[in-house]
Amino acid sequence: MSERIQAPRGTYDVLPEQAAARAALEERAREVLEAAGYERVETPIFEHTELFARGVGESTDIVQKEMYTFEDGGGRSLTLRPEGTASVCRAYVEHGMHKLAQPVKLWYLGPYFRYERAQAGRFRQFWQIGAEAIGSEDPAVDAEAILLLTTLLGDLGARGVHVRVSSLGKLESRQHYRVALQGHLRTHEDRLSQEVRDRIELNPLRAFDADHPGTQEVMRTAPLLRDFLDPDDAEHFNAVCALLDAGDVVYDVDPTLVRGLDYYQRTVFEIHSSELGAQSALGGGGRYDGLVEQVGGPATPGMGWAAGIERILMAAATPAHAAPPVDLLVAAPVGPVQFRLVADARRAGLQAQLDLAARSHKGVLKHANRLGARYVAWVDSDGRQAQLRDMEAGEQAAVAVDEVVRDVLRGPGL
Ligand code: HAM
Repeated sequence: MSERIQAPRGTYDVLPEQAAARAALEERAREVLEAAGYERVETPIFEHTELFARGVGESTDIVQKEMYTFEDGGGRSLTLRPEGTASVCRAYVEHGMHKLAQPVKLWYLGPYFRYERAQAGRFRQFWQIGAEAIGSEDPAVDAEAILLLTTLLGDLGARGVHVRVSSLGKLESRQHYRVALQGHLRTHEDRLSQEVRDRIELNPLRAFDADHPGTQEVMRTAPLLRDFLDPDDAEHFNAVCALLDAGDVVYDVDPTLVRGLDYYQRTVFEIHSSELGAQSALGGGGRYDGLVEQVGGPATPGMGWAAGIERILMAAATPAHAAPPVDLLVAAPVGPVQFRLVADARRAGLQAQLDLAARSHKGVLKHANRLGARYVAWVDSDGRQAQLRDMEAGEQAAVAVDEVVRDVLRGPGL
């Protein structure tokens, strides 16, 4: 025997018993988002590397060390998408969607790839559901986006949900804040972790995320971005909060909230679950008013979020796996008559299966019980008659093969 090949680290197989819960999640997401006017979009799994380098930001962990980048046969640098927002903005520009009624509201669901340290709740191929509203800076877009994600999580039964919101302001106010924060970090440099010290220049905001006790101590007295917001941004954020209140969304304002992507301006938010361990973020997002321009389009505001499907399923009470009912099981041997019987049954709308393992009479009965099959049919050797057994009633009768489907459709009593 050859050596066993396993799935790569950080990836997993979706097995049949998990597929039903994922399908239910997708179905609910479609209902919630499409009821609010979001339409489905699909973008390619790989894009030009440049899109993420520019869109997600050179200073982020994602671009610096987590991208699956490769050269294709034509020497182009391509990257497996680590997130969806940059791709959706590219598609918006590429298809001239600025000519449509604004905002253009799109949702997506698919696999994403990040070379991260694999652990519980953190994968290298993971699935996201996301929603983007591009073309409006109305605070109602922000509040509605947050409301939709909280609604979806509530409908799916996610437990221990905690919503945090904040505003990063526009780039200029963030610039002033950055300088003040860098000043604070430099003053206390000797108490910071090496990682935070190395990032004072590049990404000082990430210091709020640190687990290191000394750094956390220093951050307790750090200046806060909300004190640097210009009046426009403060007003925008207050309007978002007022709408969230009106929509009965329970949330905390957390001025230390940092996101791992560079494109955010103004509103940011994150939703965690106390049911999960270290990787507790179910989803997050925010406003990215400069991103469309950054990927080569006209200046256009945007707002959206993405949520991790694995984590939602972990935080939700998993619904029992309901196998589809089986109306008719046709016993072996499988010849043309049996084959046609099953095809006819399916055309008539029945759930019908063939015994594909040449089971004995007893074996078929056992298999029918395992499947929860309602009827079993044995075709006689003449190919014209069949023995049809009602498994629930325990009755069996000889019927013409051509009548089996009709009898099963008619239901109990042979
Ligand atoms: P993100 O916070 O990087 O945002 O990812 C969103 C969610 O995807 C996370 O909260 C988490 O549930 C899930 N996730 C991320 N990485 C992993 C992983 N390695 N394993 C399992 N789950 C993971 C974004 O991706 C932005 N594009 C969101 C957005 C949309 N902002 C505006 N529009």
